Order: sequence, then C-alpha cells, then structure tokens
Amino acid sequence: MVSKSLLRLASAVNRRRMKLLLGIALLAYAASVWGNFVNMRSLQENGELKIESKIEEIVEPLREKIRDLEKSFTQKYPPVKFLSEKDRKRILITGGAGFVGSHLTDKLMMDGHEVTVVDNFFTGRKRNVEHWIGHENFELINHDVVEPLYIEVDQIYHLASPASPPNYMYNPIKTLKTNTIGTLNMLGLAKRVGARLLLASTSEVYGDPEVHPQSEDYWGHVNPIGPRACYDEGKRVAETMCYAYMKQEGVEVRVARIFNTFGPRMHMNDGRVVSNFILQALQGEPLTVYGSGSQTRAFQYVSDLVNGLVVLMNSNVSSPVNLGNPEEHTILEFAQLIKNLVGSGSEIQFLSEAQDDPQKRKPDIKKAKLMLGWEPVVPLEEGLNKAIHYFRKELEYQANNQYIPKPKPARIKKGRTRHN
Ligand SMILES: NC(=O)c1ccc[n+]([C@@H]2O[C@H](COP(=O)([O-])OP(=O)(O)OC[C@H]3O[C@@H](n4cnc5c(N)ncnc54)[C@H](O)[C@@H]3O)[C@@H](O)[C@H]2O)c1
Repeated sequence: MVSKSLLRLASAVNRRRMKLLLGIALLAYAASVWGNFVNMRSLQENGELKIESKIEEIVEPLREKIRDLEKSFTQKYPPVKFLSEKDRKRILITGGAGFVGSHLTDKLMMDGHEVTVVDNFFTGRKRNVEHWIGHENFELINHDVVEPLYIEVDQIYHLASPASPPNYMYNPIKTLKTNTIGTLNMLGLAKRVGARLLLASTSEVYGDPEVHPQSEDYWGHVNPIGPRACYDEGKRVAETMCYAYMKQEGVEVRVARIFNTFGPRMHMNDGRVVSNFILQALQGEPLTVYGSGSQTRAFQYVSDLVNGLVVLMNSNVSSPVNLGNPEEHTILEFAQLIKNLVGSGSEIQFLSEAQDDPQKRKPDIKKAKLMLGWEPVVPLEEGLNKAIHYFRKELEYQANNQYIPKPKPARIKKGRTRHN
C-alpha cells in the first residue's frame, strides 16, 4: 500500500517536472524563434533601407532632369498687347507659315489679335510660326486653300501661293489652282462671313514692263503662255476675281502689289539675287554676276512690307497699291556690299549676260505714300545684316544635320538663268 502510494507520488512529481520542463523548453523555443524573427526583421529593415537609399540615388538625378525638362517646356511667347474684345480682330492668314506670312503673323499676334494661320506647307514650314504654337490667340491649320474653308473671321490676308520662280514653276498647274480656285474659295469665305480680304498680289502683274518705274495704272506686259505665266497670270486673274466680288457681292477687298522683299525666313535657294549672293559669300564661293552687273534691282525689308500690308488692310483704299522699296542698286553694288558685310574672301565672277534679264526693276510708291502714309524705312545694310545672320544660322543647322526642307527644283528644265 505504502509502496503504491509512494509510486503514485513519484509519478505525479515526475509529470509535474515533465510539464515544467516541457513548459521551459517551449518558452526557450518561443524565445529563440522570437529572437530569430527580431534579427531577421532588423536585417530585412537594414536591407530595405539600403535598397531604398540606392533607389533614391538613381531616382533623384532623374527627378532633377524631369524638373529641367518641365522648365524648358514652359513656353515663353513674345510679348503680346492686350486688346479689348471690341478692338481684337479674328484674322486669317493664308500662307501664314511662309516667309512674309510668318512675319505678318508675328506683327498681328504682338498687336493682340487672334490669328489663324492656314497653310499646306508647300513652301512654308511650321518652324516659322512654332514660337506661337499653344498661345491662346493662335491657331495653325494644315489646309490647302484649293479646298473650301469654313471658319469665322473678320479679316483675311490671302498670301497662299508659291512666290519664287523655282517654287511656282515646280508645278505650274497647282500654282494656277492655288491662285484661282484658292482665291475664289477665300473670296467666298469673305462674302459668307462679311470679312475684308487683302490679296498679296505681285509686281509680276506688270510682266516685263515697258515703263519705269511702274505705277498702279500701268496695265502690264505679260506673256500669257511663258514659263512665268502660271504665276503672273494667276495673280492677274486673282486681282480680277477680287474686283468682281467687290462689285457683284459687295465684298471689301484690298490689293497689295508686292515688289521684291528680303529678310530672315526667306528661302535660301529662291534664285533671287540677295539670297544667291549671301549664300555664295557665306560658303566662300564666287558671287556670280550675269553681264556687267549694271542692271538695277530694288529690295524692301520684310518688316516694311508687313507694316504696309497692315496699313493697307485697315485703310479705305480698295484699288491696287504698290508696296516696295524704290531705292535702286546695281547688281554689282549688291555683290560688293554683301561680300563686305559677310566679311567673305569670295571673288566676284562675271558670267555671260542672261537672256531676257530685265535692266531695271523699280516700284513707283507715290500712291502708298500719299494714301497710306507708308514708305520703307529700314536701311538696306541693316536689313542685309539681319538676313545674313539668319542664313548663317540656317547653314549651321544644316551642318548639324538637322532637317531643312529644300525648295523643290522647277519641273521645267529649260528655265533661263537670270537675276530675279
Ligand atoms: N517675297 C516676295 O518677294 C514677294 C513678292 C511679290 C509677291 N509676293 C507674294 O506674297 C505672298 C507670300 O510670299 P512669300 O515670299 O512669303 O512666299 P512663301 O513661299 O514663303 O509663302 C507662301 C506660303 O503659302 C503656302 N501655300 C502655297 N500654296 C498653298 C495652298 N494651295 N494652300 C495653302 N497654303 C499654300 C506655302 O506653303 C507658304 O507657306 C505670295 O502670295 C507671293 O505671291 C511675295
């Protein structure tokens, strides 16, 4: 009996000890698991911290770059005047991405108007007006004026047309369509919305003139089937259309007969004497003079022309007005002046006289002076320096392999070489 009770006591003590031991073992295990867990956590946290700091090292410079890019994308526009709604006009410029059109766009935008440029980019380019893209007063529409256009405007400057011989001779039929169907479409738009239309006509309506200088009442001397007829006759009929719409439909029209114009954004290969000489002088090539170089030419600087166009548009003169610079210079004078301004070592090379090269070209601008109070004010040297600066930059652009659209060569291969 005693031994049985002793045995029971002993086993009870053992069980308790066993339980105790088991409990201690469990606690030790839990403690070690916890310890491991804590260790792993801190290792992991350390690792995470390291990874995070590595990521930060890589990301921070990228963030910096994005900030720089964002800064450079914040468009800064040239200063624009504020015009009240009453004075602010909605103005359409066809051919507004071209040489003259883009300068006109600049002026009208800076004067505070809303400008819509319509262009098919045949000879124009977006770069000429890119500094306005995104401005609330500006819109650029890729559109061919040979197709009708439906927009609401107060004034239309109709400039769309290739202007230099290589460009307008490239596709004479298209040149005719642009100047005829295109002008009809714009006059139709002017009639529909009650807008005033200014046509950019040309001194070429006088053809190979028999009177010098040419005044607006001279009817001209144009060969209707010659290589230049697509342009000359195209502009002549465009003028006729303007006056038919004025008489028959009461459309308000203005006609500017523009003489040779030069300045930044002009076409480098337009075959005209100023661009030829600047390009030759900058490239160290001989300046080529056809004949003795005593033929005269007169060139106006583009800002003078643009001011004249705006004054004419806002005047009450509905008959054609010459806009040009009557200051004549011989071809040789141009060559020497440009050579000196460029600081070029190019020689002047005399080539045989070109057939049909007009001896004189000079506008009579009495009407513009009298009726518009307009005359050119930019001195030749000042304008030439600006054009030279532009050509130099363009050549650098080309050297850096950036894309510059080259003017298309004329399709008619037998065109004569002459000073334009
Ligand atoms: N620059 C001059 O010395 C001069 C002299 C006389 C007349 N003009 C007249 O002034 C205007 C502008 O001449 P520029 O020297 O700026 O020439 P440009 O070639 O630089 O500009 C003409 C613009 O009209 C666009 N265009 C041509 N066909 C078009 C069409 N079917 N639809 C839409 N857009 C079209 C061209 O892409 C270009 O942007 C022309 O009408 C030209 O006849 C210019």
